[in-house]
Amino acid sequence: MFHWLEKHPFFFAVGVFVAIAFAGLVEIVPNFAEASRPVIGTTPYSTLELAGRQVYIKNSCNACHSQLIRPFKSETDRYGHYSLSGEYAYDRPFLWGSKRTGPDLMRVGNYRTTDWHENHMKDPAAIVPGSIMPAYKWLFTNEADIDTAFAEQLTVSQFFSVPYNKPVPMKDGSNKIVEMAGSVAEAHAMALEEAQVVVADMKDQDVKDAVASGKIPEIVALIAYLNSLK
Ligand code: HEC
Repeated sequence: MFHWLEKHPFFFAVGVFVAIAFAGLVEIVPNFAEASRPVIGTTPYSTLELAGRQVYIKNSCNACHSQLIRPFKSETDRYGHYSLSGEYAYDRPFLWGSKRTGPDLMRVGNYRTTDWHENHMKDPAAIVPGSIMPAYKWLFTNEADIDTAFAEQLTVSQFFSVPYNKPVPMKDGSNKIVEMAGSVAEAHAMALEEAQVVVADMKDQDVKDAVASGKIPEIVALIAYLNSLK
């Protein structure tokens, strides 16, 4: 049936290309689908963490920090396990970054603490001598935008079927449920509850007072986000 092909080098070449391309797709596509499935233990962001993520984007932290650990010994020794694509399942947009003026932050929640971040954000050079990272003093007074974070959950996360209010499998075999509020007022209440936990480890009296009076400064949301990076 395909005898004539052998006498037409051009069509033969096209046929070979099609056959190899198809075989390639059959191998590659399922792997992509598998790799982009959420890794066990990857949970959706809470409203407060999402608000912190927006602070991170707004202040262009990703201009100096990557969130992508490459599979090299020098990197895994320093930062931990190399990044897997399924770990970004709930990251929109991705914050891989393309430049490391500062260290990678993909797993910074494993080795830095709330009070460390608090001191460092206020005056990086006081904590890490010679640091060229700018101080982010305004984060201590600006209020975090919980409304927008909640709107993001309602629109983007819903569109991409992020599993809020559903059991998500964890590494130890248990399940975790990350709740999403049903109303703006509830979203604020839930974010505030989470903020109180973060602020318990902080020293800045103005920030503590703000949270006590129901306001959430940006630094609290940002630290909640940084602590979630594991
Ligand atoms: C101009 C570049 C620059 C920008 C912008 C920047 N950083 Fe940094 N960052 C650095 C440098 C350089 C270091 C390493 C020295 C140090 O620890 O201060 C660093 C260190 C850090 C560390 C410590 C990481 C570790 O493993 O020790 C954290 C956390 C961090 N930055 C968070 C942030 C956040 C959050 C923002 C945005 C609000 C930000 N950075 C913006 C340059 C930057």
